[in-house]
This record gives sequence, structure tokens and C-alpha cells, in this order.
Amino acid sequence: MLVLLFILFLYIRISFSLESLAVNQTIRDGQTLVSPNGTFELGFFNPPGNSRGRYLGMWYRNLLPLTVVWVANREKPVQNNSGILKLDENGVLVVLNGANGSVWSSNMSNKVVNNSITAQLLDTGNFVLRIGKDNVLWQSFDYPCDTLLPGMKLGWNLVTGLNRFVTSWKTADDPAMGEYSVKIDKRGFPQLVIRKGSVNKFRIGSWNGLGFTGYPIQQLKQKQRFKFVFNEKEIYHQYEGIDRSVVSFYLVTTSGNLQVLAWTSKESSRIAIYTGGEDSCDNYAMCGANSICNMDGNIPKCECLKGFVPKFPEQWNMSYWSSGCVQRFNSVCGDDNLGGFLAYKEMKLPDTSLSWYNKTMNLVECQKSCLKNCSCTAYSNLDIRNGGSGCVLWFGDLVDMRKFSQWGQEFYIRVPSSVLDEFEPAAVNGHQNKKKIGIIVGAISFGLVICVCLVILRKRVAARVYNIVPFQWQQEYFKVIKEDMDLPIVDLSIIVKATDNFSSGNKLGEGGFGPVYKGTLTDGKEVAIKRNSKMSDQGLDEFKNEVFMIAKLQHRNLVKLLGCCIEGEEKTLIYEYMPNRSLDYFIFDETRSKVLGWSQRSYIIAGIARGLLYLHHDSRLRIIHRDLKTSNILLDAHMNPKISDFGLARIFGVDQIEAKTKRMVGTYGYMPPEYAVHGHYSIKSDVFSFGVLVLEIISGKKNKGFSDPEHSLNLLGHAWRLWTENRPLELLDRHLLETCNSSEVFRCIHVGLLCVQQKPADRPDMSSVILMLNGEKLLPQPKMPGFYTGRGLPEAISSNQMSVTTFVAR
Ligand SMILES: *[C@@H]1O[C@H](CO)[C@@H](O)[C@H](O)[C@H]1NC(C)=O
Ligand SMILES: *[C@@H]1O[C@H](CO)[C@@H](O)[C@H](O)[C@H]1NC(C)=O
Ligand SMILES: *[C@@H]1O[C@H](CO)[C@@H](O)[C@H](O)[C@H]1NC(C)=O
Ligand SMILES: *[C@@H]1O[C@H](CO)[C@@H](O)[C@H](O)[C@H]1NC(C)=O
Ligand SMILES: *[C@@H]1O[C@H](CO)[C@@H](O)[C@H](O)[C@H]1NC(C)=O
Ligand SMILES: *[C@@H]1O[C@H](CO)[C@@H](O)[C@H](O)[C@H]1NC(C)=O
Ligand SMILES: *[C@@H]1O[C@H](CO)[C@@H](O)[C@H](O)[C@H]1NC(C)=O
Ligand SMILES: *[C@@H]1O[C@H](CO)[C@@H](O)[C@H](O)[C@H]1NC(C)=O
Ligand SMILES: *[C@@H]1O[C@H](CO)[C@@H](O)[C@H](O)[C@H]1NC(C)=O
Repeated sequence: MLVLLFILFLYIRISFSLESLAVNQTIRDGQTLVSPNGTFELGFFNPPGNSRGRYLGMWYRNLLPLTVVWVANREKPVQNNSGILKLDENGVLVVLNGANGSVWSSNMSNKVVNNSITAQLLDTGNFVLRIGKDNVLWQSFDYPCDTLLPGMKLGWNLVTGLNRFVTSWKTADDPAMGEYSVKIDKRGFPQLVIRKGSVNKFRIGSWNGLGFTGYPIQQLKQKQRFKFVFNEKEIYHQYEGIDRSVVSFYLVTTSGNLQVLAWTSKESSRIAIYTGGEDSCDNYAMCGANSICNMDGNIPKCECLKGFVPKFPEQWNMSYWSSGCVQRFNSVCGDDNLGGFLAYKEMKLPDTSLSWYNKTMNLVECQKSCLKNCSCTAYSNLDIRNGGSGCVLWFGDLVDMRKFSQWGQEFYIRVPSSVLDEFEPAAVNGHQNKKKIGIIVGAISFGLVICVCLVILRKRVAARVYNIVPFQWQQEYFKVIKEDMDLPIVDLSIIVKATDNFSSGNKLGEGGFGPVYKGTLTDGKEVAIKRNSKMSDQGLDEFKNEVFMIAKLQHRNLVKLLGCCIEGEEKTLIYEYMPNRSLDYFIFDETRSKVLGWSQRSYIIAGIARGLLYLHHDSRLRIIHRDLKTSNILLDAHMNPKISDFGLARIFGVDQIEAKTKRMVGTYGYMPPEYAVHGHYSIKSDVFSFGVLVLEIISGKKNKGFSDPEHSLNLLGHAWRLWTENRPLELLDRHLLETCNSSEVFRCIHVGLLCVQQKPADRPDMSSVILMLNGEKLLPQPKMPGFYTGRGLPEAISSNQMSVTTFVAR
């Protein structure tokens, strides 16, 4: 009866959602507003990892992991579950804490007191306060957080002075305003910039009719339609999705990168389909003034504009480029010498914040007006559609240019006649004939030859590097590339530098065979470095085993190996860095376990299952992990689970069913009886460990070390007893009671128990497990689990159990 009431209570709680709010109506923590077609949901939430309190936010209702697109009270969380969103009698939305104190409000300049005001969550993800349909008083689209949704305007309303911009979260778990913002800089010719505080980090650039000059959106053309509006009333950027089967949006990350994220289906985890601001040439003014950044071949290189020389040649030779370049000759322009122009193609135009523009001039007029003014240094078209139109002029230093290979636009720099003669002897220029205006388009033949040579050279280098190496490592990290290993070999000095000589401050933890460090490479990329200490008993074989095995595995639920280093005694593996550590860090900790709600736990279970299915059936090799446990399940920034630690894994022939070993390895608590006792292992050994994992994730208790006071049972025994007594839900971690879906929990426990059955043959394989978890397959009744230590224990296993403890690996 009680259980029924409880389920009823849960049902009411979960399904209590409103369509809109009228004056004096509220929603409390636990209730939500849902958009008419169910795409978005608005309510109180708590970001994973955040213990500051509850936030009012909006998220995609049907996508996992929880993806928050807007937060109201970013700076001031509500301390407990008594937060309220209210549309008050003045027609203002307020978020109140338990003591009726306001932590956020939709302050409006024109307060209209009208009882027919309603607050509604629209299918676009806009939360609007309006009278009737058209009279919008306030909308969340005017106050973006870190996400630009399709249809949002990024930029200025010049009439009201409203500037809509996107700001990053402070950290992955703190929605407070972070350092980075994406804004439209309306000085000069408007351009889109990412700033850190008030300093430019990445200039996405000005709009040229097709796209932003610093942002190769060609690759996104199939997915999104871009728009830029620039008139007397408004300057803004907007986009819409084209492909309805793909959900995608922009995000500025906590490290200041622009990401376009997408889901192709409900089950798939989200992927970044474009990341801007990530390579070195994206760094604002990385090459200093009057110099072009070139990223061909994956290493950045700066080159002075023609007619310019490095300001400090010694520094320049050592790749310190930020001091930039200066004119080779002092006088560019005088009465007798107006100079001429050299063209550059496929360029990201220089910073336009100090530029001048005219939207109607053509290129000839544009060049004329540049020649007229001696401080004009370059010109270009504003719009490159239909042969080009408009004019932008630059004065003084040209900053933040970049050469693309298939993107960007043409622009013309001003050089003295002597330089013109040098680069384009045949050109007509201001020196030879002041009345005639010199214009040189295209690169000169000498330049062309050099270019062709460079391209050929680079192609050769590229063929050596890219075909083999799947990861985008900077060239300096390569030493040798072994053709059969598919993996970059990294120089020890780089690892020493990245980890600050393996300093204890960088230590993340102690893995099975040695410490794991966090490392930061010179380009800022974070990695995890596993050092196989000289003292360890992991032989070179096991090391090679891991390298060989994991280098060949590619799955989003397996941790990615980026490289390795073998120098003398030093054997290190370099992995992608997992900011959220491992599963045990969360589920076995009293406070942190609250972070993982039921939906996240079931998402994690499903992820582990998919990773394991890949190992067992889908990869080119059949692999048995043999050491699956919570500390080997790592979590990335989005709480995606990734299986790690393949040191003990074994490759099976596809037809091979079972193997036997004398040397017992693995972790007590996760080993199935046939392995612990007889040394037999098969894919069903991993299934057993998976079952233990599932029960641990549901209960928040460790199998090893758990003992219920009344019956002195281990976790498996405890789960089995609750199951046989028909009250399995009591296994659930009590934090989860509020967020769980009891039928899902029930199904997970059932699957968990099927996986830990004593006989390997009774346990399902991973493909069945996935069908079962999805509710697409009928579940048989589970039999008694392995290592059940309750009453009625068969004698044979009980006596063997004693010997198991001697196999405790670690
Ligand atoms: C809202 O509440 C205020 C104060 O309780 C009351 O004066 C006002 O009439 C209410 N408005 C509506 C539409 O119920
Ligand atoms: C907050 O205000 C509501 C309505 O105005 C009232 O019912 C409630 O008692 C107040 N709560 C506190 C803690 O003052
Ligand atoms: C929630 O916190 C407020 C203070 O922010 C406090 O006044 C209120 O009593 C708390 N409510 C509960 C249920 O703890
Ligand atoms: C809204 O509130 C913010 C701070 O809470 C303030 O900076 C801003 O000026 C207010 N806007 C209006 C229109 O009152
Ligand atoms: C509120 O707005 C509606 C629609 O604009 C209008 O018909 C109504 O008269 C207004 N009521 C008040 C009290 O201003
Ligand atoms: C809901 O509406 C939005 C906006 O009109 C649309 O993009 C989306 O495809 C709709 N979703 C569903 C499930 O109908
Ligand atoms: C810089 O390097 C170039 C060629 O690599 C050399 O010709 C030049 O002398 C060097 N300049 C200085 C100042 O070291
Ligand atoms: C832009 O150029 C056109 C043609 O040269 C001229 O008529 C117009 O006045 C210019 N506009 C501005 C704002 O300078
Ligand atoms: C040249 O352009 C600069 C910058 O717009 C301006 O300050 C200066 O007055 C102009 N000089 C002439 C001669 O037009």
C-alpha cells in the first residue's frame, strides 16, 4: 500500500507541469513548465557537481545528458528546495527563495500592470512574458546565457540600446557568469568577437554576405542557415537549423571556445560538430601587427606582409611573433609617391574595429578613397556576393589576419612603389603614373612557385603524419610514428614539461600500476598521463597489451588513448582528460552522490553497456576487459561514461568462448565465481562485473565491504534477498527516490540480478542486456547470484569462497 502511495506521489510529482503562468501563479521546485510540443522544459535544477543550490533554468526535455540552455538566477542559487518562480501582481517574473527573498527578477523598464499578462515557454526555447500574442514585454531570448539557440538574436537593438550577448558559465558546474563572452563589436565595421573579460580572444570576424571571415562555416551549411542583419535599427547575428532531424546550437565553453553541438538522435550523446577558437591561429593577434598566421601542416607560422619586416628579428626567429612586423621603408606615401596595392586571397580580414566603411561603393571607388588618404593601409569589399560590393578601409596597423586554404576573402594592402616593383614589376602603380591607379591582383609568379613547392612539401609531410595518426596532435609532439601502432609516440621531455616534472600537485590519483597525472600541453590541451612506475609489477607485456589494444578501439564509451612514451624505464600512456574523474568518486560519496540523479545513472548504465557491447561484439577484436569496476568508469565533462584501464584485457578469437588462466588478476567484489575459483573467464565474466556495477550504481553501495547488519549479506546477497521478498526498490540509494522512474529502476535491478547469476550460461550477453534495459526484451526470472552468502548456501561454493580472498588483486 505504502509503495503504491509512494509511486502515485512520484507520478504526480513528475507529471505536474504547467503550460503557462498567469498573474499570481507560481511554480515550485519540482514542478516545471513545458513548451507546447514538449521540446523544452523550465524548472529548478542542480548542475551535476554543484553544491551551491538550485537554479531556475531551461533544458531540452527529451535529450540526455541534461542540457541546460538558459539559467535565470545564474549568480544567486536558491539554497534549498523551497525556490519558487512567480509572476507577481506587477507583471514581473521573480524567483524567490524559501524566505520570500528575490534572487532574480525579469526587471522591465516599462512596467505594464495588466492582469492578462502571461508567461509562456515557447517551442523555440523562448520564455516570454506577453499580453495577447504579440505584445511581448520581456523574453529570455534577450538575455542569453552560454547558449545561442536557433532564432535567438545575438547583437544590438540600436533603438533601445539592448545588447544581447552570450557569456560562458564560470565552471562546468557553476552557471554564474564566466570570463568569456561572444559579442558584436559595433565599432568600425561590426564584427563578432569572443572576449575574455574586455580583451579579444578570438575574432570570429565581420560578415561578408556568406559568412564571418574568420569562421569557416562552409562545413555547417548543410545543418544551419546563417543570417546577419545590419541597418540603422539593428545589428545582429541569427541562425536557424535546416536539418530537422538534427538538434544543434552554439555554446561558448568555460574555456572560451565556440562550439556547435548536435544530436542526431535521442540516444546518441551530443557531439561538437564545430569548435572555433581552438587552434593557435584563432588566438587574437597571435602574430602581432602586419603579419599573417598560417596553419597549414598543423603548426602555426607567422609571416610578415609583403614589404614588411619583423620588428624584432631575433625574437621572430625564435617563433616569438607577438611583436609583429613593421614597414621595411619608412615613407609609404607622399606627394610624389602614393604607392600601390598587393592582393591577398583567402584571408581572414584584419580587425575592423578601427576601420571605415561605405556599403554602396564599389571596389574601384574604394581603392580611390584609400589612395587619397596616406594613413589608409588596406581596403576590401564588404560583401563578396555577386562579384563584390561595399568598401572597408583600414588605417594604421593591420591586426589579426589569417590565411585559409579554402575560405576567407580577398583584400589589398598598400605598399610603397619600390615594393610593388619588387613583387610585381609589370604593374602600373602610383609611382610610374600618379594619375593611373595601380592594382595588382593575384600572386606573382615567384610567389606562386614557392607556394606550389610548399604545397607539395606539405602534402608529403601531411601524408606521413595524417594518414596514420588519428588525433590532431601538433607536429612537435611526434618523434617516431610506428606504422603498425596507429599511435603518436611522444617525447619524454614534453611529458615532463606538461606534468611539471610529475609534480605531486598534478597527481590525479593512483591507478592500478602507478600514479596518474594531469598534464597541460603547450597549446593548453589537457591530458591525463598514466605513469607506469618502475616499481610496478605490470610487465612490458601488459603495457604493450594495453597500448596495442586500446589504440585500435574507437568508441565514445571507451576512454581515448592519445599517445604513449617509451624511453628507458619510463613507460607512460597519454589519455584524454576526464574532468569528472570516475564513477566511484560520485556514487560512493555521501554528498557527491546527490549530484547523480536517476536519469543520469540510467544514462551511465546504458553507456557502460554500449561500451562493453562494443568490446565483446562490435569491435574488430573480441575483447574481455576482466577488470570492470566503478573506478575504471571515467566521466567526461558531460558525464558520459568511458571505460578505461585495459591493462588486464584479453583478446579472444571471435569463435573462442572461454579461456583459463593460472594467474588471477582482477578486483575482488567484481570477479565472478568461476573465475575466482577456477580461473575460467569468458565474456560472461565481464557481464558479471557489469551486473555488480549496475547494482552498485543503483544502491550507491560497494559490493565489497557492504554488509547489512541483520543478515550479514554482501550487496549481491542483499539485493537478492530484497528481490525474493518482493521489495527490490528498497535497494535504491535514498537520494534517488525523488528523481527516479520506479519501473525503470525495477527493470535495472532485474537486469543487474540476471547478470550476476552464478552460472555463466544463465547470464545474458551484452546485446541482450541492452535490449532488456530498453524494455525491448522479456526478462526471465533471475536465479541466485554468485557468491550468495545467505542461508541455503551450497557447501561447495562456501568452501571455495575462502580461497577467493587469496586472489585479492588490489
Ligand atoms: C494578485 O495578488 C494581489 C495581492 O495578493 C491582488 O491584489 C491581485 O488582485 C491579484 N491579482 C490577480 C489577477 O489575482
Ligand atoms: C511568502 O509569501 C507567501 C505569500 O505572500 C506566504 O504565504 C508565505 O507565508 C511567505 N513565506 C515566508 C517564509 O514568509
Ligand atoms: C530554505 O532556505 C531559506 C533561506 O534561504 C529558509 O528561510 C527556509 O526556511 C529554508 N526552507 C527549508 C524547507 O529548509
Ligand atoms: C535589471 O537589473 C539589473 C541588475 O539586477 C540592472 O543592472 C539593470 O539595470 C536592470 N534593468 C532595468 C531595465 O531595470
Ligand atoms: C490588458 O491588455 C489587453 C490586451 O492588450 C487589453 O484588452 C486590456 O484592456 C488591458 N487591461 C488593462 C487593465 O490594462
Ligand atoms: C517543436 O517546435 C519547434 C519549433 O517550432 C520545432 O523546431 C520542433 O521540431 C518541434 N518539435 C517537435 C517534437 O514537434
Ligand atoms: C633569422 O633566420 C634567418 C634564416 O633562418 C637568417 O637568415 C637570419 O639571419 C636570422 N636572423 C637573426 C636576427 O637571427
Ligand atoms: C558612400 O559612397 C557613395 C558612393 O560613392 C556615396 O554616394 C555615399 O554618400 C557614401 N556614403 C557615406 C556614408 O559616406
Ligand atoms: C585619413 O583618415 C584618417 C582616419 O579616418 C583621418 O583621421 C584623416 O583625417 C584622414 N586624412 C585625410 C587627409 O583625409
